[in-house]
Amino acid sequence: MTENKIFIFDTTLRDGEQVPGCKLNMDQKIEIALKLEELGVDVIEAGFPVSSPGDFQSVEAIANTVKNVTVCGLSRAVEKDIASAAEALRKAKYPRIHTGIGTSSIHIEHKLKTTPEDIIERAVQAVKYAKSFVEDVEFYAEDAGRTNNEYLARVIEAVIKAGATVLNIPDTTGYCLPEEYGMKIRYLKENCKGIEKAILSTHCHNDLGLATANSIAGIQHGARQIECTINGIGERAGNTSLEEVVMIMRQHQYLGFSTGIKTQLLYPLSQLVSDKMGMPVQPNKAIVGANAFAHSSGIHQDGVIKKRETYEIINPSDVGVDESKIVLTARSGRAAIAYRAKQIGYDLTKDRLDKVYAAFCISQTVKRK
Ligand code: KIV
Ligand code: ZN
Repeated sequence: MTENKIFIFDTTLRDGEQVPGCKLNMDQKIEIALKLEELGVDVIEAGFPVSSPGDFQSVEAIANTVKNVTVCGLSRAVEKDIASAAEALRKAKYPRIHTGIGTSSIHIEHKLKTTPEDIIERAVQAVKYAKSFVEDVEFYAEDAGRTNNEYLARVIEAVIKAGATVLNIPDTTGYCLPEEYGMKIRYLKENCKGIEKAILSTHCHNDLGLATANSIAGIQHGARQIECTINGIGERAGNTSLEEVVMIMRQHQYLGFSTGIKTQLLYPLSQLVSDKMGMPVQPNKAIVGANAFAHSSGIHQDGVIKKRETYEIINPSDVGVDESKIVLTARSGRAAIAYRAKQIGYDLTKDRLDKVYAAFCISQTVKRK
């Protein structure tokens, strides 16, 4: 393993599936899990087994099906949750239990109605109990984004001592700024005894549109796992989008990060998840949106026709999109008309092009009225 390999933890089937009205059945989940395995993710969070019999069965079925990827089940820091996750993961080749508890003052006082010391005790007991079933235990400090760094470091140090191997630092409410989130990761790296034996993980929500930026800041400051979903789906405004963080690392290779993702499979998988969930991808979505490689203004079209890289930083085939699109709009110029005509078999002379272009302009004016 190189020091800068970033593990991709996909939670499309758990956090992603929390999108209202987007429930998947077991066969659909298995189909998506197999595609995630093919894509090259390192961990699939398959569900929250104690939450419903359906979730339990799906985690179990996925654990029994995929072979080259870690399968993870979520639990609260509660014995029955952890035992249920362990049971669902029984046949997994690489099982991981993901357990945790809220650590911010607002969660401790108002949701859990307890004390910071009790939270540490419960966290430690949960990790020890999970450890009695599996070697690979990930701990999440819910609402870490709004948790005081000194207290968070105490929690993290205690759970590492109890056996946690991956430490998830969720920005549960999508509150942090990238610099703030990055410094939180760095603070933990510099202030938790035993942290060198463990992996710090980012899990950023998108309430302020900063999930991707925060995840990248996290790895720049020492995290080595990113939790994310296909199309960025998830609770409320969603999670970090897998395709965005992967392509950022690929397009900025000087950062020195690598992943095992086969990027050519990104677009087909984005479409599959969108179809199965009945959740359209917004057209302007980075990497996988319908307009991500579409050019509509005359100036851009002229540039792209002359050299694609003038207005595209990603080759569409690198993410499984067939080709860039030149869309004829009221803002298109002669270059786009000539290009489109050629595509459908007409090599226009200058005179013909002038005529076609004039007719096209009239059609666009009429359309606008
Ligand atoms: O956002 C969050 O804090 C979570 C945890 C359960 C990991 O999804
Ligand atoms: Zn989450």
